[in-house]
Amino acid sequence: MSPVRKILVTSALPYANAPLHLGHILEYTQTDIWTRFQKISGNDCYYVCADDAHGTAIMLRADEQGISPEEHIKKMQASHEADFSDFLIDVDHFHSTHADENKELVELIYKRLVDRGHIAQRTIVQSFDSKKKIFLADRYIKGRCPKCKASDQYGDNCESCGATYQATELINPISVLSGTTPITKESLHYFFKLSEFTDFLRSWASDRHLQTEVSNKLQEWLINDLKDWDISRDAPYFGFKIPGTSDKYFYVWLDAPIGYMASFKALCKKRGINFDAFWSADSTAELYHFIGKDIVNFHALFWPAILKSTGFRTPTEIAVHGFVTINGSKMSKSRGTFINARSYLEHLNPEYLRYYYASKLSRSIDDIDLNLDDFVQKVNSDLVGKVVNIASRCAKFVTHGNAGILSATIHNSELLEKVAGVSDKIAGLYEKRNFSGAVRLIMAEADSINEYIAASEPWKLNKDKEKKQEVQDICSLGINLFRILMIYLKPILPKTARASEVFLNDELNWSGITQPLTNHRIETFFPMIRRIDKKSIKSMLSANNDNVNKSLTMKNKDEVNRVAIEEVTIEEFRKMDLRIAKIVKAEAVEGSTKLVKLTLDIGTETRQVFSGIKSRYLPEQLEGRLTLLIANIAPRKMRFGTSHGMVLAASSKNGIYLLEPDIGAAAGQRVT
Ligand code: 2FM
Ligand code: ZN
Repeated sequence: MSPVRKILVTSALPYANAPLHLGHILEYTQTDIWTRFQKISGNDCYYVCADDAHGTAIMLRADEQGISPEEHIKKMQASHEADFSDFLIDVDHFHSTHADENKELVELIYKRLVDRGHIAQRTIVQSFDSKKKIFLADRYIKGRCPKCKASDQYGDNCESCGATYQATELINPISVLSGTTPITKESLHYFFKLSEFTDFLRSWASDRHLQTEVSNKLQEWLINDLKDWDISRDAPYFGFKIPGTSDKYFYVWLDAPIGYMASFKALCKKRGINFDAFWSADSTAELYHFIGKDIVNFHALFWPAILKSTGFRTPTEIAVHGFVTINGSKMSKSRGTFINARSYLEHLNPEYLRYYYASKLSRSIDDIDLNLDDFVQKVNSDLVGKVVNIASRCAKFVTHGNAGILSATIHNSELLEKVAGVSDKIAGLYEKRNFSGAVRLIMAEADSINEYIAASEPWKLNKDKEKKQEVQDICSLGINLFRILMIYLKPILPKTARASEVFLNDELNWSGITQPLTNHRIETFFPMIRRIDKKSIKSMLSANNDNVNKSLTMKNKDEVNRVAIEEVTIEEFRKMDLRIAKIVKAEAVEGSTKLVKLTLDIGTETRQVFSGIKSRYLPEQLEGRLTLLIANIAPRKMRFGTSHGMVLAASSKNGIYLLEPDIGAAAGQRVT
């Protein structure tokens, strides 16, 4: 028997500012399946998570609702915990980064950083909203791109031309919070001297700790020396104050990963586990962080360097996954494909999604598509049509023919050995997080079991009195094979496995694979999982859209109220040549997530214009429509060609809406 491993597992901590969506659920499902597999394999494994409760966004969100940040994060935590539980995510402890354990650990780590000379202080210049009296992060500043002059661009990069810049370079910048023009202001900041750890990270970021794809990416980042990392933020900020200062707070991304330790510390207190055995520099326990590909830098650069420099152990592995797309596209609120976890739960069984995600998860960091038709088809055909069907076909003969007692012998031990014989392979695939490989193998076994039953035809044999025992033997084997499949699927389908345990009168454990049930009483069959009704998908989507739209409308109102409008004189306005244009051709621009190339008829000529409306419209929906064009705007050179004019659209963070003239207007007319 292999020795019991000590394993600590975490998922990325969800921000306490919004409910969970199906993207979050992918990661928690991945983590949960892996953790459950470790537990049923007999390892000493713990899974902790927490809410990521600090930062400006959460402070502002609480403010919008007129409640304290503490009240807000409490509400969010309750909603997140309910979603975890209902998606069968069996976390051993769910904490908050705004907890005493975290404060103590953050302060301890900071003290060690200071004592060991890893903190530098430097004055920096930042944008400041003098109305709201707050320093502005890039996402709270908007203005014209300094390169291509596109309007409404965030403070760090231009979504139109792809340029990156400093917020202070934006033309006509405006604070999203107050609508006023930000000023620049100096402030003293605290930096972690990450640059000193470049060499350490070059060797740490090998593919022993990371998937090869991720490791390669990191090595690219590490070609140049790293910059020091700003770990402080100025008041007002919701977080922990930096000791010895009156108005400086730890940046949320410093205390968030420390939240992994804090959550585990709280679990240690609850269960009497030795914290140091998992976190000391010489720990022999294993530590796994499951994360999305967007936060690799925090986990594979900053975090190992912080741990190393403060005398803690570094992670065994960072397990990275891609994003969820729905029906092939990014989840989008305006397209109705941003699905909240709760909307799903109100209409569908969580195990359907757990199974579907498992069937797609591997070590790749490619995005995972939740194609809703494929989802229905796969779940119905695999779980109901293949797996549960085995039990349903066999059980009735055992129940009626032998009072529910399974035969004393195994009818076809070759088949039993074949199905049990893949257990090491399946365990290896689970261990490597190649769940799709495991599912494929399990379903291949289910296929061969169904073939065996179909070829044996117990329903025909049952008509012959002489063959009654043979029927019992075939069906008892069928039940035993179903049992092995359910052991294999238990990490993915805990509820169906539990129901199967009731049906089988047996606890499903990996060690039971080689010990079939003989002379053993089973219960009357009942369906452990039912088919997905397509109607539930429709009702889930429509209920979800109602909820999302409600929150969109509220957000848009807030934005309109916040953004101040710059004045223009009537003379300035008259300079604009506004025309009605007919979209004769619309093509998606390859390589751009935003742009559509439009060919416009403006009466006197045909124009080519690029417009950032791809997220909202399919190109074919646009052809033939009329819209408004600023015809005399200076031609704009873009990465994909030159845009000769600009079509008008109303936009917000959450959607974009092309303007259309009233009926009767025609291409070429001037707007006066
Ligand atoms: O990206 C996010 O959603 C962060 N809240 C994840 C934090 S993970 C960890 F570092 F705490
Ligand atoms: Zn630009």
